[in-house]
Amino acid sequence: MQTQVLQPNAESIALAAEIFRAGGLVGFPTETVYGLGADATNADAARAIFAAKGRPGDNPLIVHISQMEQLSLVVSDIPERARALMEAFWPGPLTLILPKSARIPSAVTAGLDTVAVRFPAHAVAQEIITRTGLPIAAPSANLSGRPSTTTAAHVFSDLNGRIPLIIDGGPCQVGLESTVVDATGERVVLLRPGGVTREMMEAVLGERVEIGKGVMEPLGEGDKALSPGLKHKHYAPKAQVAVVLGGQEERARYILKAAQADDRPCVLCLEAHKDAYPGLDILSAGDTPKDYAHNLFAALRQADEAGYTKIYAEGLSTAGVGLAVMNRIERAAGFDLIKLTQGEDER
Ligand code: TXA
Ligand code: MG
Repeated sequence: MQTQVLQPNAESIALAAEIFRAGGLVGFPTETVYGLGADATNADAARAIFAAKGRPGDNPLIVHISQMEQLSLVVSDIPERARALMEAFWPGPLTLILPKSARIPSAVTAGLDTVAVRFPAHAVAQEIITRTGLPIAAPSANLSGRPSTTTAAHVFSDLNGRIPLIIDGGPCQVGLESTVVDATGERVVLLRPGGVTREMMEAVLGERVEIGKGVMEPLGEGDKALSPGLKHKHYAPKAQVAVVLGGQEERARYILKAAQADDRPCVLCLEAHKDAYPGLDILSAGDTPKDYAHNLFAALRQADEAGYTKIYAEGLSTAGVGLAVMNRIERAAGFDLIKLTQGEDER
């Protein structure tokens, strides 16, 4: 199969909608990461997503809508807390787990009676969904086990020959996948941190948002995964990743020494810290935690292309979007977290 990459315009969006209505797959931009979409009401189309990504069959997909009216097609109930979060953060990078409607086949939800639903804030995503006139099931548009894709070129590199079309909307703004919460119970439980932060949701709800077990630490033997995604290995670059937390001076000293034992090491760090690692190759995380989120997946892919065997990634505070960044790099590192004693310049 030839994979076309087209700029978003009336013609390419009409083509995407036509492919979706015929049960096909399209890579498309959202504000978080690129999605690999298909008609969410078509079981065969959903199965084709799993095949194209090599995704484990027990890991359910997120259903995307572009109008609140589509919600009743996807979910059977909207609890009060879920409604408050939708009002505050949709359209945007927040996915809610809700009871599924009969219209959504179990191929989409991997047999669960809940469905993950999100209303993306990206104009191109919205237009494609609206033009299709159907909710669109879409996981991140990467091969399973690879970092999520934040540019059309990354989608092409993973899925070339497997899908007919990629719509190129430029680099994704957030750069990490959406926040996922279970809002069906007495407490909202965070299953995956993202651009809508725990603090932002707590401010709206006026109550604590719990962090689900297995989100910021490995699941123990026999622990039940609150979200199937928590069981699977994720975001793995070819290089080994070590996350290093501590005061900046101490951290630099540690990395400079440890890297002497590595074949091809590099450091993923904030711009302001670049000069602390003389002699080592640098992958820039940008200036702020938000930049770090935006740059992380591209940096991991860049590291693979350059053939590094070890990435020392600067850890950061888990406040705000820092929680999402730490979640992704800790997973990329298989939870290999090096905690040096707290230095004075640690936040
Ligand atoms: O930002 C995003 O969310 C992107 C864009 C394309 O929208 N999509 C994305 O999808 O990241 P994916 O498939 O890579 O991640 C979906 C996550 C998985 O961890 C999955 O286990 C979880 O959502 N999930 C889906 N349905 C669920 C359900 N019913 N209950 C619990 N977790 C669920
Ligand atoms: Mg994914």
